[in-house]
Amino acid sequence: MGKATQDLRKEHDSILHVLKIMDKMISADTKGDNTKPQYYNELVYFLKIFADKCHHGKEENFLFAELIKKGVPNEGGPVGVMLKEHNLGREYIALMNKALESKDLTEFNTAAAKYRNLLLSHIEKENNVLFVMADQLLDEDMQDKLYQDFEQHEESVIGHGVHEELHSMIHKWSEKFEV
Ligand SMILES: [Fe+2]
Ligand SMILES: [Fe+2]
Repeated sequence: MGKATQDLRKEHDSILHVLKIMDKMISADTKGDNTKPQYYNELVYFLKIFADKCHHGKEENFLFAELIKKGVPNEGGPVGVMLKEHNLGREYIALMNKALESKDLTEFNTAAAKYRNLLLSHIEKENNVLFVMADQLLDEDMQDKLYQDFEQHEESVIGHGVHEELHSMIHKWSEKFEV
């Protein structure tokens, strides 16, 4: 496994952890406790910055671009499917955001469940199909180069301070919701 795909798999683990936390947040009985919207807002912030901007940005701008150069089909092929799913994920996040603004928690739960289902199958496809292909097609030098591009992307999109903040958010949630 190359350095670049390994980095993305590690991020998948963090995203999967957050999706489990999200399920627990939604099912938690918080009657008489008005903290849910605040947690949901933090969650949407995490999904926007970490899952979408940082992680999907690394895939789209660097890994997928390289795979297309190596002949992996975009439209009508595996890369095109992944890109479509990223866009669908963005739509679901926008719906979650809208539901929070109008304080409609039922609407939020519906959009969150769609997002969770989409991401679970998306991550499984990347881990078991696309990244396996990438490990076969990209040599070690290319994986190292992509990893450096990832680091730079992360620094320019979220910066070191925010990265730490996001990880401490996960830590706080996992203590509160015991996941
Ligand atoms: Fe992806
Ligand atoms: Fe991914």
